[in-house]
Amino acid sequence: MVKPVHLGILASGSGSNAEAIIKSCENGRLKGKTVVSVLISDNPDAYCLERAIMHNIPAIICSRSGINSREEHDRNIVTELKKWDVELVVLAGYMRLISSYFLQEFPHRVINIHPALLPSFRGMHGYKDAVEYGVKITGITVHFVDDQMDHGPIILQKSLEVVFEDTEETLKERGLKLEHEAFPEAIELYCEDRLEIIGRKVKIKPN
Ligand code: GRF
Repeated sequence: MVKPVHLGILASGSGSNAEAIIKSCENGRLKGKTVVSVLISDNPDAYCLERAIMHNIPAIICSRSGINSREEHDRNIVTELKKWDVELVVLAGYMRLISSYFLQEFPHRVINIHPALLPSFRGMHGYKDAVEYGVKITGITVHFVDDQMDHGPIILQKSLEVVFEDTEETLKERGLKLEHEAFPEAIELYCEDRLEIIGRKVKIKPN
């Protein structure tokens, strides 16, 4: 039997993506392939911590308060991730940039989900920006993290139609459903060793 890939999830907010991944490990497509070893939040009040606890996943707070630099903060997080034997780091609504130190410690082993079709609408408000711009199609992106924001090689994207009546809230509601499917799908591809990064592109190798 192949050893399951140990995931470490970093999250700052509600944690609906984190919970979708955890449930997929418990009973979905990731069952037997992946285990969530730890969830770490930089936000002591984030609901993602409670979601992790409800599923018996260790939930750890690595707060930024009293810490001088991004790298010092990342050193604390990397120490925790290593303690839990994490192989793949999943940014699930983690609202901070990752330092180059972090990326060196987990080369090609940090992935993020973004609520738009990159390279459109980078930043924190993908759904809101799509509604305000008036695009007819938007979507979600799962990508490897590199040293620029919302920029690394793209693993997969899924599209979403925008209708005239959409608000940020209605679009987000449909978008999150897609995110909850796409993230486990991308993690499964990683676990099956089917992702090959070639420059900016990710080749998905056949099963
Ligand atoms: C998601 O829309 C994700 O794409 C973005 O942050 C949001 C996190 O939502 N990076 P949740 O905390 O997983 O519910």
